[in-house]
Amino acid sequence: MKADELRDKYLNFFKKRGHAVISSASLVPENDPSALFISAGMHPLVPFLMGEKHPLGNKLTSVQKCIRTGDIEEVGDDVHLTFFEMLGNWSLGDPKDPRGVGAGYFKKEAIEMSFDFLINELKLPKDRLAFSVFEGDNDASFDKEAFEIWKNLGISEENIKKFPKKDNWWGPAGETGPCGPDTEMFFWTGEGKPKSLTTGDNKSEWVEIWNDVFMQYNKTREGNFEPLRQKNVDTGMGLERTISVINSEDIFLIDTFKPIIEEIEKLSGKKYSENKKEMRIIADHIKASVMILGDEKGIIPSNTGQGYVLRRLIRRAVRYTKMIGMSENFTSKLSDSVIKIYKDVYPEVKKNEDFIKRELEAEENKFRKTLEVGLKEFEKYAQSIVINRNISDEEKGRNLYSAPKELPADSVFKLITTFGYPLELVIEEMREREIITDLDMVKALIKKHQDLSRTSSVGMFKGGLADASVESRKYHTLQHLILATMRIVLGNHIEQKGSNITAERLRFDFSHPQKLTDEEKNKIEKIVNEQIQKKLPVWFEETSLDGAKKIGATGVFEHKYGERVKVYFIGKDSDNFSKEICGGPHIENLSELGHFKIAKEESVSAGVRRIKAVLE
Ligand code: ALA
Repeated sequence: MKADELRDKYLNFFKKRGHAVISSASLVPENDPSALFISAGMHPLVPFLMGEKHPLGNKLTSVQKCIRTGDIEEVGDDVHLTFFEMLGNWSLGDPKDPRGVGAGYFKKEAIEMSFDFLINELKLPKDRLAFSVFEGDNDASFDKEAFEIWKNLGISEENIKKFPKKDNWWGPAGETGPCGPDTEMFFWTGEGKPKSLTTGDNKSEWVEIWNDVFMQYNKTREGNFEPLRQKNVDTGMGLERTISVINSEDIFLIDTFKPIIEEIEKLSGKKYSENKKEMRIIADHIKASVMILGDEKGIIPSNTGQGYVLRRLIRRAVRYTKMIGMSENFTSKLSDSVIKIYKDVYPEVKKNEDFIKRELEAEENKFRKTLEVGLKEFEKYAQSIVINRNISDEEKGRNLYSAPKELPADSVFKLITTFGYPLELVIEEMREREIITDLDMVKALIKKHQDLSRTSSVGMFKGGLADASVESRKYHTLQHLILATMRIVLGNHIEQKGSNITAERLRFDFSHPQKLTDEEKNKIEKIVNEQIQKKLPVWFEETSLDGAKKIGATGVFEHKYGERVKVYFIGKDSDNFSKEICGGPHIENLSELGHFKIAKEESVSAGVRRIKAVLE
């Protein structure tokens, strides 16, 4: 099975069953400050799961680009990937809902379609499949319905496990939003008769390939689960994992990985079979970096947010190349393999090829420089111990742990935090020179340091559009207003480069070569506030992508299917102030906004500026 084949099979199966095919959204969430990257197919659909009407109806299917960074330390094992593609199908609204919202499907149809696809399309043997359902707790009861549906499909009770929330509950994607009990489908990859599926079994011979989530709840900021106005089905099947189990082959040798691994073998002159962990990490990280750089939103390496994740991925890959003896620049060469794999499915990577290579090279060079400085510093430390002690040949012959040369833990910690020299490389260097340190102490110091920085960044990502609070709606509408105003004041080159909304403020990034002058800032504030005072209405219309283009709406046009979209207008019909492609939700009238102020203006990167906008 090849990736192209599985994508087609999946989309066609659901298309035949009344689903509209939607294209993958950008990897960077639109207006969700609680998450850095899209991590599931449902993530771009949050407004529609919360009750907004989707222009293509209420049965949807897609293949979505995803990034998950929570498991970065686990990459290198058999199943974890940073970038992956998720196949999914959705039903927005339950047909049995007494309030009559929607005309989609719910548990029965969702499970039956999943089963049909696994057995009849993928031809997976039934005796190698097992399923799990939610066992129930204080927030929601045992999912008897899902349990019975599987039973009616001929699955023995022994193969339908009841697991707690930590296994069989999914969502929300950010901190708040749609979520619910799920039923998961596992495939036995081991030899002989399958063992019994147990909780948390994800890393054993049982591999989870598909998850049907029954989104009936909204998790609030307070951590409560309140029933959703509309019940939804959200499913997710990992493309790479599924191919690897169908083919019973290493996930890093399926067709969306093999050419990258082969290139690494060529560049290093070493064999994959003997250097699996290192090569897997390099392939995974460079692929994810290329997809992030090549995304419609064009993230670049930096010290915050998405840019920081990107920086870590590139640097980690460089570190691992050193471990397998690759010393030359390699990122640009590897990106060729990645672009070749994805250019037809995600044409943006081909389009952004030059940008991807330039940024990869620059970051790689920068990091190599850091490593050089770090190494010099390390040499200094190492020299000072050698000078302090003369080591006899007899001592040198002894093993590392009784070696007499010891570097104090706080020096190692300093190398890592102040000079950015990576722990693994410090360990390598020490091993070569027979130097020891108190590694537990170093790790404890690093952990303390990380916990401190984590607490300070968590505070930055409170809330999210998913909670659809009135405040975030207001800032979302303000964002449209600011974009239209900047185009008037600064020119048509202004494009939105990112945004981040909390209940307190809007952070808005835009393309502009220089610092805003006081005069420009005043003018933007004045025009925005004038529109607010005019009490302009906010409304939307559904149209084709071409229709949106024709009326001059702003927004992302790089979609591959002939989609219908929503265009949000600010202002009266004939003479509107802003028109922008957007899923919503928004407020209904600008009079709800109050007074707008630019609290701060600064540079984010070359050619990109940022303002902090507040409503008073
Ligand atoms: N959103 C669900 C998942 O990611 C389907 O597993």
